[in-house]
Amino acid sequence: MDQETLRFAKSNEAKFVENLKNLVKIPSVSFPGFDPKWVVESAEAVAGLLRSSGLQNVEILRIKDAHPYVYGEWMNAPGKPTLLLYAHHDVQPAGRENLWKSAPFEAVEREGRLYGRGTADDKCGAVIHAAAILSYLKTSGKLPLNVKMIIEGEEEIGSPHLEDFLKAYQQKMQADVMILTDTGNYDTGIPSITNSLRGMASLDVTVKSADHPLHSGMWGGPLVDPVQALSKMIASLTDKNGKMTIPGIYSQVRKLSPAEAQSLRSLKYTEKDFRKQAQILPKTKILGGKDLLLSLWRLPSLSVNAIQASSKKDCANIVNESAWCHLGIRLVPDMNPQKSLESLKKALLKSAPWGVSVEFLNENASPAWLAEAQGPAFQAAARALEKGFGKKTVFIGCGGSIPFVGPFAKVLGGAPAILIGAEDPYTNPHSENESLHLGDFFKSIQSAIYLYEELSSLPAKNPERPKALQNRIPAGV
Ligand code: BES
Ligand code: MN
Repeated sequence: MDQETLRFAKSNEAKFVENLKNLVKIPSVSFPGFDPKWVVESAEAVAGLLRSSGLQNVEILRIKDAHPYVYGEWMNAPGKPTLLLYAHHDVQPAGRENLWKSAPFEAVEREGRLYGRGTADDKCGAVIHAAAILSYLKTSGKLPLNVKMIIEGEEEIGSPHLEDFLKAYQQKMQADVMILTDTGNYDTGIPSITNSLRGMASLDVTVKSADHPLHSGMWGGPLVDPVQALSKMIASLTDKNGKMTIPGIYSQVRKLSPAEAQSLRSLKYTEKDFRKQAQILPKTKILGGKDLLLSLWRLPSLSVNAIQASSKKDCANIVNESAWCHLGIRLVPDMNPQKSLESLKKALLKSAPWGVSVEFLNENASPAWLAEAQGPAFQAAARALEKGFGKKTVFIGCGGSIPFVGPFAKVLGGAPAILIGAEDPYTNPHSENESLHLGDFFKSIQSAIYLYEELSSLPAKNPERPKALQNRIPAGV
């Protein structure tokens, strides 16, 4: 590889930050209730970035009423392998705007970090690869392998059109290796390859006891309070140590292999690390025993993401007619998503007191993902990251979910899925003041340049795939 390519990337770092800032300006929140026109505008901006980086046949892919995906390719390296680069351009809502130290959709640099919604999760994913591709094309005029890039628009809402997308485009997506740039690093400056993701079983719960709110002085006593009912139901899901009590949850969990256990131990993660990174209050206990990485990556966890009945503003002396919450369980191998969801619902119904009505809505279920993370593609990626970061690459798990990974890898006939990214533990994704460590952003660009070079010497199985693998959606997608 030409040193000139690396130098070009170094001397254009300010421009790449500018590219990222321009994407962050567009509030591409994919959640229902937010104007979808911004996700369209964001798709157009991403398409513009891909075009100006030298990708060809750039187009916006639409399926039914899904938020748009963006595609671009550079397929001029015959006989060389094809990479499929994945990131997403939709983002989470800003949350409480008053808690942001600078406006969420105006990327601002402070102390080596770029603050703004989507800087790290995951607009940097598209910008990193666009930057690496531009650097190659501007210096040597070509890439060392073939590249396809797909930037999703609905990841943060659980990729509801994933199945339709893969049905429509599985041919177009064929590649030898997938690189997904949407996960994090073990610590700032430590390059990491993620080899597992948790899945998800989540839903909305509404508990109802009356037709309308009633004066708490006039009716309070005999009247059932749905907030108390829902609280009891939620509380019944865990014991005093925070462990789930839902029958049939832990019995599904796959035993840790000796290699996994060794890998977790080798990282030497401590309670001190956890407290520092998550910035929890000093007296708040840590649940689930000593093995924190096991709890974070390889055991299920329950969280109640939002809970609502009346509001601070309307708080009056009433007994509410209903209470609502959204909650979910992060799943690990071999938990069956549908079965876990049914167990959760059953436990909630069983604990519902006083004859309240219980309604479930917006159910979501997707499995965990676990890769061997061995073989030449992973080794090549580890070498590339090591060169880009100047530090040894570590293999880590991830407690979060990316529904795309499993089904996508299947459609590619089991092609290796390599998960990397520039999110460090201080990124604060999904929360206020999300930020990207700029040093890691630049190192990720250098790594991507090394990555294409390293992977270019792998054997190319594609694009001529056997017919049997084409036009076939594997079961369970
Ligand atoms: N980038 C995250 C996944 C992630 C989480 C990476 C934590 C590294 C650390 C991704 O965008 C995400 O947040 N996914 C959702 C998926 C859900 C909507 C099914 C998640 O995990 O909540
Ligand atoms: Mn993400």
